[in-house]
This record gives sequence, C-alpha cells and structure tokens, in this order.
Amino acid sequence: MTDRIDLFRTRVPGLAFGGDYNPEQWPREVWSDDHRLMKEAGVNLVSVGIFSWAMVEPEPGRFDFGWFDEVMDGLAAAGVSACLATMTASPPPWMAELHPETLPMRADGTRLWPGGRQQYCPSSPVYRRYAARLVEQIGRRYRDHPALALWHIGNEYGVHVSTCYCDTSTEAFRSWLQHRYGTLDALNDAWSTTFWSQRYGDWQQILPPRIAPTFPNPAQQIDFLRFSSDELLACYRMERDTLREIAPHVPATTNLLGVWKPVDFFSWASELDIVSHDSYPDPADPNSHIEAAFGYDLMRSLRQGQPWLVMEQAPSAVNWRQRNSPKPPGVMRLWSWQAIAQGADSVLFFQWRQSRGGAEKYHSGMVPHGGEHTRTFQEIRDLGSELARVPSLAGTRVTAEVAVVMDWSSWWGLELDSHPSSGLRQMDANLAHYAPLFGAGVTTDVVHPTADLSGYRLVVVPNLYMADEAAARNLVEYVRAGGHLLMSFFSGIVDECDRVHLGGYPAPFRELLGLHVEEFWPLPEAGEVGIRLGDRAGAGSMWSEKIILESAQRVGEFTSGDLAGEPAITRHRFGDGVAWYLGTRPDPSTMRALVHQVLVASGVEPVLPGRPDGVQAVVRRAPDGREFLILLNHTSDSVELDLPVPMTDELTAGGAFADTVTLAPRRVAVLRRA
Ligand code: GLA
Repeated sequence: MTDRIDLFRTRVPGLAFGGDYNPEQWPREVWSDDHRLMKEAGVNLVSVGIFSWAMVEPEPGRFDFGWFDEVMDGLAAAGVSACLATMTASPPPWMAELHPETLPMRADGTRLWPGGRQQYCPSSPVYRRYAARLVEQIGRRYRDHPALALWHIGNEYGVHVSTCYCDTSTEAFRSWLQHRYGTLDALNDAWSTTFWSQRYGDWQQILPPRIAPTFPNPAQQIDFLRFSSDELLACYRMERDTLREIAPHVPATTNLLGVWKPVDFFSWASELDIVSHDSYPDPADPNSHIEAAFGYDLMRSLRQGQPWLVMEQAPSAVNWRQRNSPKPPGVMRLWSWQAIAQGADSVLFFQWRQSRGGAEKYHSGMVPHGGEHTRTFQEIRDLGSELARVPSLAGTRVTAEVAVVMDWSSWWGLELDSHPSSGLRQMDANLAHYAPLFGAGVTTDVVHPTADLSGYRLVVVPNLYMADEAAARNLVEYVRAGGHLLMSFFSGIVDECDRVHLGGYPAPFRELLGLHVEEFWPLPEAGEVGIRLGDRAGAGSMWSEKIILESAQRVGEFTSGDLAGEPAITRHRFGDGVAWYLGTRPDPSTMRALVHQVLVASGVEPVLPGRPDGVQAVVRRAPDGREFLILLNHTSDSVELDLPVPMTDELTAGGAFADTVTLAPRRVAVLRRA
C-alpha cells in the first residue's frame, strides 16, 4: 500500500520551505512582489486560504473563487506548491446572523460571539453542513490544480474552542455516551453515580459538566473531554472523507498545535496522512528548546517514525505572550534545524508577509513590515538556500531506544479537581523526565501506553495516573520480556472511569514494582524534602509517599520530613527486566544522576558519546543505510567535538572530511560519513 506521504513527496521532493500565505490581506501589486521574494527565498510550499471563507463565500451559497484562482495560478507560475486549506476554521459573520445556534457556549452558559475566530460549535449540524458544501466546492475546483500538493484541513482544531456546552452539544454528548455505554446502568456504574445522589434515570437527564455547585462528577468530566476531542475529529474526518472521494491522489493533514491538552493526538494520528505541527517555543525561555524537542519527538512517534511537517513556527517574535521577544540572530535557523533533526521534512512559518492590520500585526512574518532588507528576511533567505542543499534528508528516519509514555485520558484525569495535590501537571511531569534524557543525549520517542514497546531498551512513565487493563498489561509484559522501565508516583491509580484500582496502590503495577504505597504524602507548594540516592544527597518536591517494599530493593530514601528513613526510590527485577520506581520528584541534578544510572543499566548509549552539555545530536537514516548526523549547539559557547569517523558537513565543508567539528554558539552541522 502507498504510504500517503509519498503522494506529497511527488509534489514537494526535498525539504519543504515556506509558510502561511494570506494574499487577500494585500493589494494585487504586492502579490507579484510576493512571488519574486518567494523565489529569492527558495520557498516551495505555502498554506493558502486558511481564513478565506468570508471572501470566497461572501453570502451563503454565493461563491466567488475568481480571486482565489488567481492566487493558485500565481503560485503555480512561481513554482510554489500549495497546502490548500479547506477554509472552515473561521465561519463568516453571516453564519452567526442566520444561525446563532452555531455559536459555541462555555460551561457557564456564555455564548462566544463572532469578531475573533473559530466561533462554531463543533457538534453543530448547521456548521458542518455549510463546511461540507464549501469543502466540496474547493475539492472539485482545485483537485487537479498544478499547484496543489496537500490539503490543510481546518486550522489548529480546538485552539480557542475545544469544548462546547450548548444544547446541540448536549444532544451529541448523549448519543456519544449511548454509543460508549449502551445502557444507562452501564453509564451509572462507570460514572459512580451512587455517589452524591447522581443516579440517572433517563438519558435526557444527562448534561455536559456545566458549572455546578461543587466538583462535577470526574468520570463525566473525562468522558466530556473524550467526547469533545472526538467531535473535533469528526469535523476533520467529514472534510477529509469528502476530499478523499473527490481527490484520492491528494493527501491531507491538519496542523496539531504544540502538545495540546484538549485534542487527543494519539486518536487523531491514524486519521492524518501526514502529521503536522505548530511550534512556538519562547525565545525568552532558555529551556524552551527542550519543551519543543518533546513535541517534535511526539510528532515523530504519532505515526511510528514517519517524517512530519513543521506547519507553523514564528520567524521571530509572536504577538500573544505578555512580552514577545524576538528570536536573536541564529536562533530561528537553529530551531528550524532542530525540528529537521528530530524528523521533520519541512520548515514552514506563520506567516509569509507580516499583517498590516488585525490582531496579529505584531506577529513576525518572513517578510516583515520593514520589507526584504531586514535581518529576518535575510535569515529566511539564507535558511531557504541551505535547506535546498540537502534534499536527500527528506524521508530519512530517526530511531529511538527510549520511549516516554503519555496518554491523553490520563492527562485529563490527572488534572481534575479534588486530588491529593492540585499541583500535579502532566507536562511538568513529562518534562521533568524528558529533560534529563535530552540532557543525556539519547533519542526518545513519546508513545501511547498500548504501543508496541518491544523495540525500546528503556520505557519511562512520568505519571500515568489512569491505566486501563490494556495499558497495564502492556507495560508489565514489556518488563517481563526483558525491558527496563522507570515509573514515577501517582501512576496506575485509577481505571478508565476514574475509579481507584483496589488492592494497594498502584495495584496494576504492584507486582511489577515489587511494592505498594500505603499513603500519599504530597508536599506543600514550595516545600521540599531531603532525599538520598546512593550516597548522593538531594531534594524532592511536589510529592512523597509511604512506600512498603515487598520484593523491590531500596535505591534511595527520604532523609527529612515525616517519612525520613523510608524508601523514596526503588528497583525491582521482574521477569527478565527491571522496574525502577520514584516516590517523589527529585531535583534536576538528582534526576539526571538517576536517569544516567538507569540508562547505563538498560544499555542505552548516547548518540554521540563525549558530546558536551547543550549540544544536541540526532541521526537521520535513509532506507539505503545513508546516515546524517545533525549537531545543534544550543549553548552560547563554541564547542569542539570529536567524531567517531571522518565526516563532511553538508552545509559548509564542500566535501572535505574531518574527524572533528567546531560549532560556534547556536550553530548547526549536518554531517555525513564518508
Ligand atoms: C496559530 C494559528 C495561526 C496564527 C499563529 C500565531 O498557530 O494557527 O493562524 O494565529 O498561531 O502564532
């Protein structure tokens, strides 16, 4: 079977370079200037039409595609491919006027009005009907257009409106629940409705978790989040299916925003022909490239290593933080190469030309307000020509020996109210575990708990609060078969309906870990507790707990507080593998020491041994065995690195091979062995 990403490659061979292009914001004379500058910058792909609905359908049912034909023809003539949007991300104002019931509603009953964007209820049959008609028009009109390379369905689903509590959504939620549970008895059981007199006697009594006097039912909340992600996915699928029928030769994607809590990326991944991602690390945060790296590893893992697209990143500053720092010289290039290193086949930006009006006029563009003689445009042009020098990177793959486990339902459950600690945040836990792996220079996938784990030497479980039977079995069997696993506290606590697994926390992993937890002992907000790992003293934060060892061995302990002298970190041989367990969140340096110990024990080697801190090294491999070693210097110091074999820098060396490489601050090398 053809991998549908191949259909894209036939249109855009090599690495894709470009961004969101919104020519409707500009007079015609600017369009020809755009084409000239796109050529100059080496742009080969732009996303068009994302917010064009009101312009192509100015009145319901009256379509005006004439101007858009010119946009598409202009691109084709300029040799630029189109990632053509379905234009449904933001309905025109007439929809709200004619059909106010399509406007989304918050949990407190407030309607969200037009005037921004994305003001639609995802379950609205009216919105979906209008969207379907528009998508059909676009599909039929442009399916054979020479510029067309990829469908861009919607835009960042759920970025502003991920849940809707209106009556239409209520009806849809009930149907979703009927499908999931079949009977009211099953639902009552799953939602533990004997608690607080919540038992339902009729489906009509069930509501979304609207504002209630106190904590709404947690299982209802989690199901509502599942439903809400599924409703957005249904919108995507409706458009995708329409286009698949009209233009089976054109692949489809939608841009997934960051690592976005409301949208379950794992359930969406199989519906995308190509994963694409919007990445906005904060230039003012010295660690933001690590958080971005987590997102990139997740994107690569969503479709089992298939290359993915950076659909959006900022050329320099964004407009939506409290303070919007530009990317200093070299950072845009460095971060672009970072995404490529981690498996991306594109560098695309929001947006091509910086807007003159509207809410995003202070968001940087590839062509800034200041025009082509600006630092930003010069850097863009340099990057474009550089990417064109390594077309053979496209399609190569990254493999990992370590996986971090995450699951959206568990994330939703973890961050609900009335828990032992309201301080637990999934992404904090993920990054506390991911950062030391990144620091150790190993390549890491980010996978679902039921993924095939057999290829990994080490699996890290930062905080899998919710574990159903399949997830628990998969992790246990992975270790039994010889895998190494590192799990942190408050994992395996509840089932998929947020009911506690009885039999001693964490019951599904008790045998695997060789221990049980008698009592949770969360720490105050800024509180710390002393810990010792071997003979190394450190501190734990966030959490502590009373661990009762069964067959596990103590590796570290609490040295202060109520649990002083009790185990804090353990290790357990189980089957042919080993399971490590952490009952607190160690300070970063203790965490690094522990992760180092676990990596050594599980036989995981860094990609480039001896690489200094702050230098990222990733290998991309072609099916024919060719390898590219990409090195990124995230520090502000120059570094000299020894290479395992003589290599040439595809970007600078002009074919000369060397066994060392010097990287100035924020510089990049793309190395190939002889
Ligand atoms: C998102 C959207 C874009 C734009 C950028 C600005 O990623 O998809 O339309 O608003 O943010 O950062």
